[in-house]
Amino acid sequence: MFDQARKYAWYYLNAKTKSGVHSPFVYDLVTQVLEDKTEYPEYAAIEKLRLSLLNNKLVTEVEDFGAGATERGSTYERKVSEIAAKAAKPAKWGKLLYRLCRRFQPQHMIELGTSLGISSAYQAAGASSEGKTPEFHTLEGSANLVELSQINLKDLGYSWVNAVQGNFDETLQPLLDQMEKVDYAFIDGNHRKEPTLRYFEQLLPKCHNGTLLIFDDIYWSKDMSEAWEEIKAHPRVTVSVDLFYLGLVFLREEQAEEHFVIRF
Ligand SMILES: C[S@@+](CC[C@H](N)C(=O)[O-])C[C@H]1O[C@@H](n2cnc3c(N)ncnc32)[C@H](O)[C@@H]1O
Repeated sequence: MFDQARKYAWYYLNAKTKSGVHSPFVYDLVTQVLEDKTEYPEYAAIEKLRLSLLNNKLVTEVEDFGAGATERGSTYERKVSEIAAKAAKPAKWGKLLYRLCRRFQPQHMIELGTSLGISSAYQAAGASSEGKTPEFHTLEGSANLVELSQINLKDLGYSWVNAVQGNFDETLQPLLDQMEKVDYAFIDGNHRKEPTLRYFEQLLPKCHNGTLLIFDDIYWSKDMSEAWEEIKAHPRVTVSVDLFYLGLVFLREEQAEEHFVIRF
């Protein structure tokens, strides 16, 4: 069995703090984004929503399109509280997504994996923090989750986030075909090697020098670790930042190739 604990031990021992980072770009990222402890006002409303979802006993039917699909069958019933506890990124990571979007102000954004909309809300809040309304598409296979996430995003004031329902395998390419470019993408669904690499390759033609791609759960399985290694080795990737639970990818041509493992 793939040993995630062993990987984490390796990460913990090898991860650098800001003092070990010599790239000015990554040093700024660490000091101004990763280490930013400001309690931005948007956090409270999103965490209040999470709390209400954690207490929501409504049972909903969810279709499983992701990495668990073959084990669990394609449709199953789940309490909203359970989905909020298991699928949504914890506050620490949601807040980081907020700060990344706040810092880079992406205006053309994609999220693969909406679930209840918690990470969508964090990213929408960060990207709109300077008053602009970005183009933000969030993709989800399960129709009931799309419905619930839309209610949640509307309640938080982010009704402008566009929900795209359907299997990523079918929805991503038509969406990309109608987008001018992609400044930011968060890939948080279907954690398997082949689809992850395929989504990455599909995104690349619309990406540019300033694009930030974020991959979730890069050590979730042996498969995902291999996908992460291939992504880092791609000729267009110059900088990667491994935070263990998330991997950040930059395509900055002006930057010498370097792969960072940063303690977070
Ligand atoms: C981990 S959850 C997303 C959590 C969310 N980003 C958050 O942090 O609040 C992953 C979601 O991706 C969806 N998903 C997985 N594979 C998919 C696929 N191939 N097509 C469409 N949706 C998929 C699942 O239904 C699930 O809701």
